[in-house]
Amino acid sequence: MKAKLLSYTNITVPTPPYKKATKVGIVEDENGKRCLVRIEDEDYEILKVGMEGEVEERKTDFGTFNFFIPAVKREKRRKVAAVTGASRGIGNAIALELGRSGFNVVISDLEKTGECDETMKKIAESGGEAIFVQTDVTNLSQVEELMKKTVEKFGRIDVLVNNAGINIDKLVTGMTPEQWQKVIDVDLTGVFYCTKAALPYMIKQGGGRIINISSMSAFDGAVGQANYAAAKGGIISFTKVIAREYAQYNVLCNAIAPGFIKTRMTDAMPPGLFRDRLARNPLGRRGEPEEVAKLVRFLVTEGDYITGQVIGINAGEYV
Ligand SMILES: NC(=O)c1ccc[n+]([C@@H]2O[C@H](COP(=O)([O-])OP(=O)(O)OC[C@H]3O[C@@H](n4cnc5c(N)ncnc54)[C@H](O)[C@@H]3O)[C@@H](O)[C@H]2O)c1
Repeated sequence: MKAKLLSYTNITVPTPPYKKATKVGIVEDENGKRCLVRIEDEDYEILKVGMEGEVEERKTDFGTFNFFIPAVKREKRRKVAAVTGASRGIGNAIALELGRSGFNVVISDLEKTGECDETMKKIAESGGEAIFVQTDVTNLSQVEELMKKTVEKFGRIDVLVNNAGINIDKLVTGMTPEQWQKVIDVDLTGVFYCTKAALPYMIKQGGGRIINISSMSAFDGAVGQANYAAAKGGIISFTKVIAREYAQYNVLCNAIAPGFIKTRMTDAMPPGLFRDRLARNPLGRRGEPEEVAKLVRFLVTEGDYITGQVIGINAGEYV
């Protein structure tokens, strides 16, 4: 049935222990008959009073409801992803994979590299758009500026990938408080800042996806990585909290825990340690950044019923 939207709102029904925000509206059909309709989360930000659409009856777990489907084709809209630490390595591969999968991409990092220019060019060739925003994830006002610029340029933030990370490996007896703190600041506090700054936009637009790049080191007692492992383990706990707190707003949050991936981080390992890692890897090789990127793409495009999870990608090095 064709109908015109007369009014709409977002109501939160507090049903303990979960709250569900439901979007509803009132429409009028061609004969002037009015009825109450539900609205899908992802349609909410394109609504305008007076817009035309269809009313469709749908069965849900809670009964049968009329839904208003706006006539404006939402498929035409490119989604928007912001990726931190994306000038090189895994973040750069994620930016490219998402850009080639129909996203406009905001690449952020401490500095812009040649790899980054190359990725922006490839995204443009595939029909998307990418911009670079210089950001230090340990600086909250720069992080807030990153989210603001993303929304000013592309209108929304559908996906945030918290990828920026560093390691300073030392045995605990030799680790200075500064070395401890630096890794916690970038790898854990940076994830908190970016998530905190992106959430208000995601909530307002009706949903979003957050992917936090943790590490296998969070699980396996990686010698020399007390600071790194503590930060990456913290990311996992943080991910679960975000998943529970914001599912009601259709914001899904998952962590990915890569094992031994071919980037500058693992190129810099001492040769003996490098050989040991390779020897205990069941596939006998490092993973490619692109293999991690494909997992991110799967989660943000197909994972509509996945939240609060940690997905390992490590060739069975940790099981
Ligand atoms: N390479 C691996 O084997 C591996 C394994 C598990 C997890 N990871 C994680 O994957 C992510 C990417 O790592 P990578 O291997 O591509 O490393 P990388 O060193 O190649 O890339 C990390 C990026 O983060 C950026 N960065 C560092 N500090 C930053 C800050 N304060 N603000 C913004 N950006 C900052 C760097 O400039 C760099 O571009 C990291 O979180 C890392 O911990 C990597």
